[in-house]
Amino acid sequence: MTRHFTTIAETSDDDLRRIYHVALGAFDDTTLAGQGVALVFERPSLRTRAASSTAVSELGGFATFFSDEEIGLDHRESAEDVGRTLAEMYAICAARVRHHEIFARMIAATGDRLSLINLLSDVAHPTQAVADVLTLAEHFSSGDVAGLAGLRVAYVGDATNVTRSLCVALLRLGAHVTVGAPENYQLVAGGLEDPTTVRGGGALRLVDAASDAVRGVDVVYTDAWVSMGVEDETAQRRRDLASFRVNSDLMAEAAPGAVLLHCLPAHRGDEITDEVLDSPSSLVWRQVFHRRSAMRGVLRWIKEDE
Ligand code: CP
Ligand code: NVA
Repeated sequence: MTRHFTTIAETSDDDLRRIYHVALGAFDDTTLAGQGVALVFERPSLRTRAASSTAVSELGGFATFFSDEEIGLDHRESAEDVGRTLAEMYAICAARVRHHEIFARMIAATGDRLSLINLLSDVAHPTQAVADVLTLAEHFSSGDVAGLAGLRVAYVGDATNVTRSLCVALLRLGAHVTVGAPENYQLVAGGLEDPTTVRGGGALRLVDAASDAVRGVDVVYTDAWVSMGVEDETAQRRRDLASFRVNSDLMAEAAPGAVLLHCLPAHRGDEITDEVLDSPSSLVWRQVFHRRSAMRGVLRWIKEDE
């Protein structure tokens, strides 16, 4: 059965454990020897593109980058025909897409011959969540992801694709997550990456004030106020989210020794201030480092099934 990695929620606990485990193995192997990975980006990227192409190369494969301008998913030709074409030449298609439903359409069209990896969609950012888990485990529990049970995490700002995958991943590991967001920017139940349906793990709490979210927590996480695709709402979002900026006053309400995470790119002065992003409590560059570890984990896990 061809493996896909499009949300955290649709990946079993055993598979996630395996991904976290193989992510940190040595990279001089031949997992992808002679095999190609198509990297399709409908939206801009620095970290994800860099992490994907370097991880593919470390595992012995080759990556080809396709921009939206070149292939025009559902404009130049259908997503199904793009999938059918890539399946003739590549083992894996890793894609950053505007519309998450493209993954299911490509999987249906390729008869399960092409593995799909979600490199960010409107619904989820699961490879980011793997990197975030690896970063927190490295800091708090000597790399043991099981050691994150009971960790107190606050997400502050706009509840985005990143928030949903992060929450599902952390709740499944038994961490407790509070999301602090204004009503119109808060997590809503439903969809394929739904933290509100995670059972038996940590507790999810939704609050409408940043200080309520961060009080006493071990980790503060934030993401852009203006995600890709909603740039025309920039002025409104700056007004609505102004009291959710992560600054040193807000960090002071967290537990002593609390750390700061941000998926990046950062919008310094909007959702995050320089003094926090550049402080010793910031783990953002370890997160960037682990984007590549996470990609290795996902790629290895996909190929292990053969
Ligand atoms: N965090 C993240 O996905 O960064 P890029 O958009 O630069 O890939
Ligand atoms: N929520 C952001 C994440 C960027 C990595 C976006 O979708 O643009």
